[in-house]
Amino acid sequence: MIQNVSVIGLGKLGGSMAAGMASRGLNVIGVDVNRHAVEAVNAGKAPVQETGLGEMIAANQERIRATLSTEEAVLGSDISFVIVPTPSDERGAFTLQYARFAFKSLGQALKKKKGYHVIVLTSTVLPGATRHGLLPILEQESGKKCGPDFGLCYNPEFIALGSVIRDFLNPDFYLLGESDPRAGDLLEQVHRRVSQNNAPVKRMSLENAELAKIAVNSYVTMKISFANMLADFCEHLPGGDVDVVSDALGMDKRIGRKYLTGGFGFGGPCFPRDNVALNFMGGQLGVDSSLLKTNDDYNRGISKRYIEKLQADLPKGANVAVLGLAYKPLSHVIEESPGIYLCRALSEAGYRVIGHDNLAAPYAETALKMSALVTDSLDEALKDADVVLVTTTDKSYTALTADHLLRGRPAITVIDFWRCLKHLAADPRIRYVPIGLCRDETAAAGLKPLWS
Ligand SMILES: NC(=O)c1ccc[n+]([C@@H]2O[C@H](COP(=O)([O-])OP(=O)(O)OC[C@H]3O[C@@H](n4cnc5c(N)ncnc54)[C@H](O)[C@@H]3O)[C@@H](O)[C@H]2O)c1
Repeated sequence: MIQNVSVIGLGKLGGSMAAGMASRGLNVIGVDVNRHAVEAVNAGKAPVQETGLGEMIAANQERIRATLSTEEAVLGSDISFVIVPTPSDERGAFTLQYARFAFKSLGQALKKKKGYHVIVLTSTVLPGATRHGLLPILEQESGKKCGPDFGLCYNPEFIALGSVIRDFLNPDFYLLGESDPRAGDLLEQVHRRVSQNNAPVKRMSLENAELAKIAVNSYVTMKISFANMLADFCEHLPGGDVDVVSDALGMDKRIGRKYLTGGFGFGGPCFPRDNVALNFMGGQLGVDSSLLKTNDDYNRGISKRYIEKLQADLPKGANVAVLGLAYKPLSHVIEESPGIYLCRALSEAGYRVIGHDNLAAPYAETALKMSALVTDSLDEALKDADVVLVTTTDKSYTALTADHLLRGRPAITVIDFWRCLKHLAADPRIRYVPIGLCRDETAAAGLKPLWS
């Protein structure tokens, strides 16, 4: 029975995994090249910002410690999870530079280890990377053989920032790629112990797991784009309402309702880059992956399309407030955020833009310094706005009242990507523009001639 585990890389995912495993009774040694992360964990604090992480580390301090030494971690545990960055390169593939460095240290540590050990790669990689990019480093540095001397698994996680710990402890399933059954058995044992929801474990080859991980994200983004396309359709149909249509689609068990709420594009640190990377892989292998490219293009073009489509609601030279700059509510992450892209596209189209976000403002300020003013004060953002675009369902936006928006002015336009401000529709002072709803029956004029 495995009792001692190590976690290499104490970032947004690794830090939460270390805490989560300690909370389930395992002894955890965390490793990071960043001294601050190591010191934070040893002081019982969170190495990064994530919901509940600090509290969980503090509550499990007797079972979790951190070090700068990979060797200490390997010698003191039976299984090591590697969660270091795999950033995208200019081709859209995931680079292995950090993983190679970590695997070199792991190989050197394995050389000194007497017993069997399992290395588990959790970082997102493309098919073939584990077997051909990383395994040779372990064998070369350790002088040992994968199989008899150590095992290697690819075991990515499906988590969302903001709920990493909950998602890690309650996954839909564990995706487990294994070099051989012995390695997979030991990793499955850890999951059975850690899972709070008795999640099933899907075991397979390293390559199938690598493809499955990235395919999940890619598939979800296709659902999002599909729903966004439906939203567009609904705006052109009498009485069209994307939520009604999506609710119906969601009833079909083959489809399901999740990620089908039409509105704005997808963003964040995983979805867009996973799509691009899988398409890159398709190109390399001679697979027609144009579906992925089309989806990526569709998503990247969404801000510009909205600005063109909403010409009538966006008078030239208007002051425009964009509420929501993070890629989702309750997040400070602006990576590939549709809100950021929207601000840039509006600025390029000649609008004066002020962006607001409760958590992401400091990060967005740098990213948007050439295109928009950024504030974390909602009042400041609304002060001079002629048009307000609401890009996330943050509670401070969904609670906005007509008086708060108007601030004594006679009229204002509100463009609502998620239909979360429907209570404003009845107010004659508000020009309310919901995305995904048909608001003007003449907009449906294109339908009738098709049938007469
Ligand atoms: N964050 C997410 O939402 C998420 C979701 C799924 C998958 N992933 C994948 O997990 C991986 C890590 O992502 P993250 O968001 O946790 O990254 P992160 O940048 O937050 O954390 C990575 C950590 O690894 C440390 N590190 C780098 N090289 C190291 C080494 N040689 N030894 C020890 N520590 C080292 C860094 O100092 C950092 O603390 C990536 O491949 C990412 O694609 C992330």
